Amino acid sequence: MTDLQNDYSMHTHTCGQLRAEQADPAREVTLCGWVSHRRDHGGLIFVDLRDRTGITQVVFDPDVCPPEAFAAGERMRPEWVLRVVGYVRLRPEGTANADMATGAVELMVREVEILNSAETPPFALVDGIETDELTRLQWRYLDMRRPEVLSALRLRSEVTAALHRSFNKRGFLEVETPILGRSTPEGARDYLVPSRVSNGKFYALPQSPQLYKQLLMVGGIERYYQIARCFRDEDLRADRQPEFTQLDVEMSFVAEDDVLALMEDVMAEVLTAAGVATATHPELRGTPVAVEAGVCDTVSFPLPRMCYDEAMGRFGNDRPDIRFGLELQDVSALVAGCGFKVFAGAVESGGVVKAINAKGAGDLSRGEIDKLGEVATTYGAKGMAWIAFTSAGEEKSPIIKFLGDEVLAALKEALQVAPGDLVVFGADSFEVVSAALGAVRLALADVLDLPKSGHRLCWVVDFPLFKYDEDGRRFVANHHPFTRVKDEDQSKLETDPAACGSYSYDLIMNGYELGGGTLRIHTRDLQLRVLQAMGFSEEEACEQFGFLLDALSFGAPPHGGIALGLDRLIMLLGGFESIRDVIAFPKTSSGGDPLTGAPAGVDDRQLRELGIKLS
Ligand code: AMO
Ligand code: AMP
Repeated sequence: MTDLQNDYSMHTHTCGQLRAEQADPAREVTLCGWVSHRRDHGGLIFVDLRDRTGITQVVFDPDVCPPEAFAAGERMRPEWVLRVVGYVRLRPEGTANADMATGAVELMVREVEILNSAETPPFALVDGIETDELTRLQWRYLDMRRPEVLSALRLRSEVTAALHRSFNKRGFLEVETPILGRSTPEGARDYLVPSRVSNGKFYALPQSPQLYKQLLMVGGIERYYQIARCFRDEDLRADRQPEFTQLDVEMSFVAEDDVLALMEDVMAEVLTAAGVATATHPELRGTPVAVEAGVCDTVSFPLPRMCYDEAMGRFGNDRPDIRFGLELQDVSALVAGCGFKVFAGAVESGGVVKAINAKGAGDLSRGEIDKLGEVATTYGAKGMAWIAFTSAGEEKSPIIKFLGDEVLAALKEALQVAPGDLVVFGADSFEVVSAALGAVRLALADVLDLPKSGHRLCWVVDFPLFKYDEDGRRFVANHHPFTRVKDEDQSKLETDPAACGSYSYDLIMNGYELGGGTLRIHTRDLQLRVLQAMGFSEEEACEQFGFLLDALSFGAPPHGGIALGLDRLIMLLGGFESIRDVIAFPKTSSGGDPLTGAPAGVDDRQLRELGIKLS
């Protein structure tokens, strides 16, 4: 990224810019910045002056600056704002600082202007501080002066710029869609905005621009993108905020492969812009690449792809972290009818028994194994059976005595067991075993401290169209209700909705769902049938989605698209722990902004105008 341009400000250089070449007593240099640190060295005063580009050592020397400037230097406190004028000189022999970009030089002050004073900051404005997050967010504008926060915002700006370049050069139009709109079901609760003009009616803040971007396709825009703010009232986590940003994309006249190919080209450019090594293999485009787990320094395109069933089967998860193996293996056939009731019973009742062979975990303590078992039960399992094959050649297990020699031998062979391995088991329905062992797998990777260097991306495709909502006793969309059902499954919509596949794809990065998209339904008839399969009557469908159904009956082109979570992308690229780290003013986990105090009460007059009474 280019440095701050000096043409538009009261400084001639930035605090990260000066080098030995500028050393010249005859040349006047002006810097502006914040006092990071001041040291009084009997007769000389050193100030580290900081701006967003770096730090320069500024020297107040009574032989160089007039007495009033020296006196100002003596008064200076951290975070005061200065404009200093002087000349650059090489630091005296032995005092250069190789760890600092500007460490070869210092600025000899001739003139100083104190632009502002500052209270003592509530925490040290340096990296690696232990200050709690709430305090940092309450003083976010100070937190932002720290290089690590700044680096996140800088990376975000660079990535966003790269995205704009990638889409603009491919003929995408950037179109803004409404923030005050009508609810789009993406599976979360809406934020509602009451209307003063139409009392009793509400706008919904967009959970995504989904319906508007589809209408843009009907309008003939053909290629659309937007860096779009989205709002979802859902439980917050490290990778979820109530307002977040999507890179939102929609295209007409495309098949699924076209959307994936476009996104791979864009991702290759964005990763490169973010300094990640990439390799592109055009000769492989069109031949799906299988997923092989393991770390890689280079992100290779085309990205590997697997279908939803394969992801669930191998990793127990539809957003698999493929930087390590520890894959789930189905041992149902081997343990069917065996002497251990839990296993035999699970197979008999139509469930599965799966195992993970964790190489190198055979000597874990009983306590550590029990902790893994707790992870399994947290995710719904009734327990986690295990056999530890210690490196000393012992076999420890609470279940081995029930299995019998034959079954044990078959398991050892199938799982390629060697001394030093820990085998863990889940026995239950496919869903419970997947969830439990999927979580145990991640916990094992942590316990074993498996390498997670590099970025691993892959596509998970072909999600079932629906999932069954036990509480609501109806089918709900896996992605959203506008997703196109696989051509060959259309006839099953009324008879067997659970068996319908969809044109859908998620982009997974390092075990996070980075993005998701689908091909859309583009005929009124099919859209109505899908809504009906979800329990809408024709009347209800028309009441809620009449405008979409109408649009689809006016020559809607086949279309599809995707949205990436921009916050998640920056978090992963920058190696941050939470998306809060890459948002300038994020919300806390309870949805509040400790800086401004939002959300806050409003006065009675505002409520009266909106026709709202609080209960
Ligand atoms: P989806 O709901 O999968 O799809 O969202 C796309 C991506 O947005 C990110 N994301 C979030 N990031 C931070 N905080 C949140 N609360 C949050 N919720 C979602 C994720 C996710 O993968 N309209 C469809 C896309 C499409 O079909 O084109 C949609 O919104 O990274
Ligand atoms: P039990 O017979 O209930 O004492 O269980 C023996 C072992 O099997 C214990 O280690 C349990 O954690 C484990 N176990 C119990 N239920 C399951 C299950 N559904 N899947 C896997 N292991 C289980």
